[in-house]
Amino acid sequence: ASSRRHLIVGNWKMNGLSAGSLELAKAVAEGARDVGPAARLVICPPFTQLAAVAKALEGSKVQLGAQDCHQSPSGAHTGDISADMLVDLDVGFVILGHSERRQHHHETDGLVQAKVKAAEKAGLTPIVCVGETAQQRDEGHTLETLGEQISKSLPKDFSGVVAYEPIWAIGSGRSASVKEIDETISHLHDVIGRHLDVDDKSVSILYGGSVTARDAASILSIPAVGGVLVGGASLSAESFLGIARAAL
Ligand code: G3P
Repeated sequence: ASSRRHLIVGNWKMNGLSAGSLELAKAVAEGARDVGPAARLVICPPFTQLAAVAKALEGSKVQLGAQDCHQSPSGAHTGDISADMLVDLDVGFVILGHSERRQHHHETDGLVQAKVKAAEKAGLTPIVCVGETAQQRDEGHTLETLGEQISKSLPKDFSGVVAYEPIWAIGSGRSASVKEIDETISHLHDVIGRHLDVDDKSVSILYGGSVTARDAASILSIPAVGGVLVGGASLSAESFLGIARAAL
């Protein structure tokens, strides 16, 4: 077993009412006791469940994340949530620039970068998502697309985490192959080394897109992979913990 730690992040997306969220968070917190030190667990419920889930996670080794934040510290932004509001609820991580937000909320790389800066300033660790569409991959534009997203979404002194989520693999039941993940994430490390003022090895890169307990071990055995960002399979404590146990 290697000494590196894998970040295992559950993105609940827009799922979870009070009762179910509490039950799921408690089951993850409980089960995490038997997960070895190679896995660092984070769950990202919707905003409305953060306070309750924070309580359920107290004293456990599972950390709390959110799914977005606003780029401004406070003010006239009806319906938005600031990074400080998240810190106030014991949130440590925030997913930013998820493809679902880039697509449905028209988030640009520039906006994502502004959010990353706000999150880092508040003391949160941003998990910044990048990923190509099926068409971009088929046309051979994957590396160029990702290079542009990385260089424009991340500030030069970025100190967070990146998640590579090919859009065609999200919720499709078809995760990228070990070869695709290895090649792409290795390329992303190169891009980070070239474009940012940080050591590329200091930036952990997760893979996301249809990760299940069945394929987690092969994905986590790729040396360039720093962990996984899990959607659907994070809605069951059993599958999510199964993924975490695959970290070695
Ligand atoms: O952020 C995680 C995500 O987009 C992947 O979703 O359901 O394919 O694991 P899923």
